Amino acid sequence: MADNALSLLRAINWPRNSSPLLTAPLLDWLMEADSMTRRFERHCQRVTVNLLRERFIGAEEAGEDAALLPEESQYWLREIELCGDGVPWLVARTLVPESIINGPEQKLQQLGTVPLGRYLFATSTLTRDFIDVGYSAELWGRRSRLRLAGKPLLLTELFLPPSPLYASLKAK
Ligand code: PHB
Repeated sequence: MADNALSLLRAINWPRNSSPLLTAPLLDWLMEADSMTRRFERHCQRVTVNLLRERFIGAEEAGEDAALLPEESQYWLREIELCGDGVPWLVARTLVPESIINGPEQKLQQLGTVPLGRYLFATSTLTRDFIDVGYSAELWGRRSRLRLAGKPLLLTELFLPPSPLYASLKAK
């Protein structure tokens, strides 16, 4: 299940032009500026992280994502499932240039099952360059380039079928 979700995450299409399918309730989820962990907490008792993979990868393995980050020889990769009451609602991949990990943001490498947003949104230096909206099979995703004290990292998220995003689309 997690492997399948990660394959879909890696295969997200990023269309250049905005799609007519991007309705207001959908954009309300995809353009969420606050932490998705906090947003999910409004829809369940408990949000938890299943850690799938954390390790350094080379630029080649980082693939297209590396083009959105400064060129470095290694990137810290973190792949997780974010669960609402134990059910996977989202898969996420974070790519952090090695030089950030070696600086004051070392904590990024030691998150384990602590949701990334708990760290990022607790810092006063967080900014966002852009959010791209994409899709993979029937699922919606987004990628954001965030900056911690000016230093960039890339966060890509894919919303899985049980996520409340899809329920809110049906409700409208
Ligand atoms: C993470 O912990 O890596 C994480 C958590 C929530 C997200 C994305 C990533 O929405």
